[in-house]
Amino acid sequence: MPNSLTIALSKGRILKETLPLFASAGIEPLEDVYTSRKLVFETTQPGVRFLVIRATDVPTYVSYGAADMGVAGKDVLLEHGGGGLYEPLDLQISKCRLMTCAPVGAAPAGRRLRVASKFVNITKAYFAEQGQQVDIIKLYGAMELAPILGLADQIVDIVDTGNTLRANGLEPLAEIATISSRLVVGQASMKLKHGRIGPLIEQLSAAVNAIQGR
Ligand code: ATP
Ligand code: PRP
Repeated sequence: MPNSLTIALSKGRILKETLPLFASAGIEPLEDVYTSRKLVFETTQPGVRFLVIRATDVPTYVSYGAADMGVAGKDVLLEHGGGGLYEPLDLQISKCRLMTCAPVGAAPAGRRLRVASKFVNITKAYFAEQGQQVDIIKLYGAMELAPILGLADQIVDIVDTGNTLRANGLEPLAEIATISSRLVVGQASMKLKHGRIGPLIEQLSAAVNAIQGR
């Protein structure tokens, strides 16, 4: 159906800020996405459905065309690489920074640096750009623990208020990227469904501007 749309939303902290933007465009889930065990939700617009999935899976669903469009953090998109995706709109939500961090006042390692992160590709690219050879250790969460236990000298992680770093005796060193959530559209869907997707991007853009202007 040329008018049907499958939209992949990141569950977790982004979702709460995403739903009001789509509501402004007249698209609301017919069921409570927070309490339902469903993964696919019909919406107030016939043929338009939401998938509520892990943030890291959003670019995969959209780039393969299993979903037409989606919402994901720039961190997740950088780590994915962005192949097969357009990124037409910065939704200006879930803003934070991606940073290198280390224990407060840590002395230089005196050997090749060990860096722990769940953002392995970003970390590799960043240190390569700095001309620094590092060993990268892949973790799936609680990166702040790695320097405390001597698993790594530094971490690459999300920093917002800095509370998590402070609570664990760490400090931010360098900013790799400023992060916010983005609307992504599959390149094939953008071509095939432009008549449906173009106006929706306009509506979402207006909703973002209205919130920013408040
Ligand atoms: P998963 O559970 O799939 O591993 P996650 O735990 O990283 O994902 P969330 O914590 O919900 O998922 O974060 C989703 C996105 O929100 C991140 O990709 C990032 O863009 C943004 N984000 C993460 N932490 C913060 C924060 N402290 N403040 C603002 N935005 C954040
Ligand atoms: C994120 C991120 C940092 C923290 C930064 O974790 O991984 O640990 O937020 O925010 P702050 O600077 O305001 O303290 P989150 O709370 O999402 O937990 P999780 O990713 O470990 O589940």
